[in-house]
Amino acid sequence: MTQSPEPKVLISREQIAQRVLELGAQIERDHPDGSLVILGVLKGSFVFLADLARAIRRELRVEFLGVQSYGSAKTSSGAVQITLDLTNPIDGSDVIIVEDIVDTGLTAQFLMQQLAARQARSVKLCSLLHKPARSIRPVQIDYLGFTIEDVFVIGYGLDYAQKYRNLPDICVVEG
Ligand code: IMP
Ligand code: MG
Repeated sequence: MTQSPEPKVLISREQIAQRVLELGAQIERDHPDGSLVILGVLKGSFVFLADLARAIRRELRVEFLGVQSYGSAKTSSGAVQITLDLTNPIDGSDVIIVEDIVDTGLTAQFLMQQLAARQARSVKLCSLLHKPARSIRPVQIDYLGFTIEDVFVIGYGLDYAQKYRNLPDICVVEG
């Protein structure tokens, strides 16, 4: 019989909230003017993006891009695919890609390449989490929430087989 994994809190909602405020303030300081676009990578970033956008107290646009690199397994398939493209132009804007986690780095590298061709004024990467132990491609993360060990995490937008995205804390699956 299959049992549900038992989630254990790794990063609490209070810790996340505090760090998101700091990241928002940092982004605000670094972008005093110009057109700012916060580009959420679906689906995993949707909770983080909602909080981060409200922590940046200046005019901005929210856009989304859908990518898939994982099936229902815990390991990357290696192939990254765009499942939903941008619906508005980003040329001339400062773009901040918002990711839930940089794991192997394949998705982030793919996105940076894709967006380089679209005449943005600048493209930066903001990721809530980084798992450096599993890095395959070196990725520069301009705004980083937390560095974590090589564990599979769920909650605050992150899924396991499309479930657990609604957990308020970042948890580790055990079992
Ligand atoms: P990449 O391996 O850096 O390309 O990571 C791509 C995507 O894999 C991330 O945006 C997440 O959606 C997903 N992912 C990687 N590690 C985890 C994890 O520990 N939990 C949930 N999703 C993960
Ligand atoms: Mg995911």
